[in-house]
Amino acid sequence: MCGIVGYIGNREAYPIVLKGLKRLEYRGYDSTGVAIIQDGKLQVHKKKGKVVELEDAVVGINMHSNICIGHTRWATHGEPSDRNAHPHLSNNGRFAMLHNGIIENYAPIKKELISKGYTFKSDTDTEVLLNFIQEIQDNNKSTLEEALRIALKRIVGAYCILLIDQDDPETIIAARKGSPLVIGIGKDEHFLASDASPIIEYTKEVVYVNDYEIAIVKKDELILKNLGNEKQTPFIQKLDMELAAIEKGGYEHFMLKEIFEQPETIYDCLRGRLLHEELEIVMAGVDHNIDALTNASRIIIVACGTSWHAGLVAEYVIEELCRIPVEVEYASEFRYRNPIVHKGDVIIAISQSGETADTLVALEKAKEQGAFIFGVVNAVGSSIARLSHAGAYTHSGPEIGVASTKAFTGQLAVLNMMALKIAKAKGTIKTEYYLHLLQELQDVPEKVEAILKNADELKVIAAKYVTARDFLFLGRGYNFPIALEGALKLKEISYIHAEGYPAAEMKHGPIALVDENLPVVFIATKDSYHEKIISNMQEIKARKGKVISIITDGDEVSPTLSNDTFSIPSADEIIAPILSVIPLQLLSYYVGTLKDVDVDKPRNLAKSVTVE
Ligand code: F6R
Repeated sequence: MCGIVGYIGNREAYPIVLKGLKRLEYRGYDSTGVAIIQDGKLQVHKKKGKVVELEDAVVGINMHSNICIGHTRWATHGEPSDRNAHPHLSNNGRFAMLHNGIIENYAPIKKELISKGYTFKSDTDTEVLLNFIQEIQDNNKSTLEEALRIALKRIVGAYCILLIDQDDPETIIAARKGSPLVIGIGKDEHFLASDASPIIEYTKEVVYVNDYEIAIVKKDELILKNLGNEKQTPFIQKLDMELAAIEKGGYEHFMLKEIFEQPETIYDCLRGRLLHEELEIVMAGVDHNIDALTNASRIIIVACGTSWHAGLVAEYVIEELCRIPVEVEYASEFRYRNPIVHKGDVIIAISQSGETADTLVALEKAKEQGAFIFGVVNAVGSSIARLSHAGAYTHSGPEIGVASTKAFTGQLAVLNMMALKIAKAKGTIKTEYYLHLLQELQDVPEKVEAILKNADELKVIAAKYVTARDFLFLGRGYNFPIALEGALKLKEISYIHAEGYPAAEMKHGPIALVDENLPVVFIATKDSYHEKIISNMQEIKARKGKVISIITDGDEVSPTLSNDTFSIPSADEIIAPILSVIPLQLLSYYVGTLKDVDVDKPRNLAKSVTVE
């Protein structure tokens, strides 16, 4: 949430920061701002709205500078507006600062500062922290760095901040706790950003700043210190990412590109792990911890949103194949309810970004209580990946569209492979079935390709139902979480109210919603629940609901009960959710675009939820 970019070096800084902000807009797009130092004077430009609005606003202004910090905001404290946009200026006009995160104890600090005569132009917690730093500096006659360190020890909350001083145009000071910060190292230049996407075209050498670290960044020097003022050795890593991965590549939206990338991203996830010739799955994180995993008396899956839906599918799969009880928890609930975690419990954390604040804190708590943490994460080097004892990356590549698509299918592929490995090690799966599922997983990329070839059919279906006020998504068994995911996707990017339900549970309430105006999407692929779901379709049809069904190739019964059908290749029921979600992603995409929603940046959302 919120994207931050900074540059210091010999080049023109503003265009680099502006381009970086466009890459980070998926993290928030309420307002944008930049600060530069020009001829010894701070200049701050900020604007409500997307990055392009700031770009337009500064046309004709001399933006020449070799130092710049910029911010694209997802509002927490204070409505989206010019005055609440970052960066903020200190009362003495000397410092400019931007911030991703939340300062929880800002109110008493603000009160104290007001009593000392400070005034505030915005409603933000950030401006409070900045003036608090100024106050400490004035009182202690300390350096800015010292004042920042003292302030950070007094505040409660999460932050990634960039701070510049009009009197020192050679330095950007940065600090992080709970919100990500990457520093790219170039020749006589440094790049700072919330993730690597603004950096990738300039350098592949990066340092991921850790919590409670302060970075003093000059064009030719990077000093990392902890809050105790001790120098830390920067750990330089090589970025394993190509520029093409963060560009639209001819697609109208990142979301569409990411949906269509799935044959390759799923293949990348399986590659080197699913060794078909050897009839084996190799996953280092699982192999090295196989005892902890097979001996787990229970597995707790912790995640949010779409990742939580992947967890629900995994619950069904792991219980079926491994016979280990699984609980799936919303991270935000788990962390606050004094959960019972025993030493030896296995926690599987699922997260695309690896930065979701609720998931991160839930894991920290569980780790303290002795649980073994296994991370299923997409973003390499992210906080959750680093906090986990072991893990498996989904290798889906950067996901930029706000609605998660390819990361979800990557999560399902990883979780299926994990379940198969654990089941084999425990002896809870018959060899024949294990080999069958191996083959089924192997076939997924090709089947996804086949589904995508028929995407236009979903465009036609979307056009028929685009004016609906509500949608219901129903599924049973392995496809129940897919119904939840279908409803979430539609809500997010079309603003149509949608609910996902277990198909049988529908009779216990939601059936009251059904009339001739309600589209009901059935995920009705051939599985052990198929006859039951056919009965549920009958029940909807009898009440004149519009039935849209996602079915398996060759199913002749479902079309007779449906107004519209979309057919996908047959697959084992354990594997089928990876396929059945694809038409739902496309349906949402087409409905959203027909409604003219900016599907990559739907209102109020941000890709990476780094605040609670
Ligand atoms: C929905 C979506 C969100 C995320 C959720 C968790 O399309 O993207 O619901 O799934 O915010 O994010 P991660 O997986 O990054 O922890």
